Amino acid sequence: MPPAIPRHIAIIMDGNGRWAEARGMRRIKGHEAGAESVRAIAEECARLGVEQLTLYAFSEENWRRPRLETEFLMRLLKRFISAERETLIRNQMRFSAIGRLDRLPANVRRELDKTVRMTADNPKTNLCLALSYGGRAEIADAARRIAQAVKQGRLKPDDIDEATVAAHLYQPQMPEPDLVIRTAGEMRLSNFLLWQVSYAEFHVTDTLWPDFRAEHLHAAIEDFNRRVRRFGGLVARPAAG
Ligand code: IPE
Ligand code: IPE
Ligand code: MG
Repeated sequence: MPPAIPRHIAIIMDGNGRWAEARGMRRIKGHEAGAESVRAIAEECARLGVEQLTLYAFSEENWRRPRLETEFLMRLLKRFISAERETLIRNQMRFSAIGRLDRLPANVRRELDKTVRMTADNPKTNLCLALSYGGRAEIADAARRIAQAVKQGRLKPDDIDEATVAAHLYQPQMPEPDLVIRTAGEMRLSNFLLWQVSYAEFHVTDTLWPDFRAEHLHAAIEDFNRRVRRFGGLVARPAAG
């Protein structure tokens, strides 16, 4: 039987700096090489029929890095989005972004908006970039909007439940991630999709992001297929059920 394909795969793309440093190159060269992996993995997910691919590209905390690096990353992002629009359209993929996007430079936001608009009706994989994204920030932003709804009389405090919180996240319609992959070996979430990953399966590989290709994705999906998901109950459900 072919492996079941997760509906939503989320990836913490880590190790660009280490990849470059191991080659005696500057860290930014690792980010450039990592962009190639994004293209390869996005195309493979479209081919496999993955419904959503969320890529952690820049965290809210990454603004703490030296300005030269964050400025380079913003330029790379702008270049990448405009260059890859064609790839997205050719593969009939949708594009979206989550995070505190208002912190991004205006020229990056323009490219993002344009790509979202141009791919909005596409039927295949939703490629979602997490940019200036933090899981705690997302939950705090949701809490603020819920409080506003209560203040305006649109919502009663007693009616607030998990579904209310979920409905106020950046992308309420996203299926929860089934599989979270982290490259470069670190066993932590680094503030990624904290609300949404409560029952995701976790796959960590030592492969650095710029080396990550379709074969590594397939290995992660095979690993996922060996998991037994119980969601707190006693009845085992096959991984991608
Ligand atoms: C991931 O690679 C990309 C971003 C966080 C923007 P890193 O830049 O974190 O690479 P390492 O972890 O230093 O190797
Ligand atoms: C997580 O990687 C963020 C992204 C991949 C965008 P980091 O390299 O920022 O994570 P830490 O600092 O090692 O936790
Ligand atoms: Mg890192």
